[in-house]
Amino acid sequence: MRPSVLITRATFPDVVERLRAHADVTVNPDDALLSRAELIERLRGKVGMVAHGSDRVDAELLDACPQLRFVCSVGVGYNHIDVAACTARGVLATNTPGVLTETTADLGFALLMATARRVTESERFVRRGEWTKTGIHDQFAGAEVHGATLGILGMGAIGRAVARRGARGFDMPVIYHNRSRLDAALEAESGARYVGKDELLAQADHLVLVLPYAASSHHAIGAAELARMKPTATLVNIARGGIVDDAALADALRAGTIAAAGLDVFEGEPRVTPALLDLPNVVLTAHIGSASIRTRRAMGTLAVDNLIAALGRGTTPGRPPTPINPEVLAASANAPTSQGTAS
Ligand code: 8YV
Repeated sequence: MRPSVLITRATFPDVVERLRAHADVTVNPDDALLSRAELIERLRGKVGMVAHGSDRVDAELLDACPQLRFVCSVGVGYNHIDVAACTARGVLATNTPGVLTETTADLGFALLMATARRVTESERFVRRGEWTKTGIHDQFAGAEVHGATLGILGMGAIGRAVARRGARGFDMPVIYHNRSRLDAALEAESGARYVGKDELLAQADHLVLVLPYAASSHHAIGAAELARMKPTATLVNIARGGIVDDAALADALRAGTIAAAGLDVFEGEPRVTPALLDLPNVVLTAHIGSASIRTRRAMGTLAVDNLIAALGRGTTPGRPPTPINPEVLAASANAPTSQGTAS
């Protein structure tokens, strides 16, 4: 019997077809965000799901869907998945690292530049028909990018890709802070110098946040941290909503504690803290870090390949390429009757 699986958000038709070769696939038909009750209802009888950041997968959901064995998420961040709850129930979780690294770093740099150089503020001015005089010496004069100090909080693959752009493309001295310091080879490749968090905040002209969301990183940037930054500094968040205290950030931007912010992710998104919407010195994007056609297709393909392999099919049966909790695979391989793969 072919396994039944759910894709919770619409994706590229070829990605769906790739999975259809191995399973009966239901795609959330209208691409509407599913409520928890709807998600549980649609997961009824499904052994696997291609999940997205908006699908909270926790103990309650797993207990309501005991037949669910494989949660294959589209995205590198997986704070929407309770991995311990999955592992405890023998449910495999996978994500899509690697394929989005450079694309997300591109967006980080785009936001940095747009924010520092006041690109969207100036664009709104032109569109409103307010550009009536030329040659005003400080009109939309922003902060320098090349040669300025780039700070990076969170030095995983995306952080390092942002660092390389700054160091090699823009002659920026790069400093970073991370839970653990990189080895010498990675530091050299990134062109970055390790500093403590307080020094990072104090020295950075442009601070880019790229750390994963966890209880320990909740509000890693709040009023106290913003107060340590330069009044001329810009802050870019391409990490996750909740890492920045958005209300405190709005206060800081209004008070001139820092100069400007570029934000791709928000607390409670798609809702945005209203105070941010009213500020001119904020560039806002709609969680588009990985959103190039090629990368979004690669993410969908990798998520589907994880599920196909987990189903015991495809070119690497039983060996999904990017598991989050591989111990589930090891446990099912050792079990007398495998429950880690479905046929
Ligand atoms: C995705 C992301 O758009 O990879 C991530 O962690 O935040 C984004 O690339 C998002 O996860 C889609 O579900």
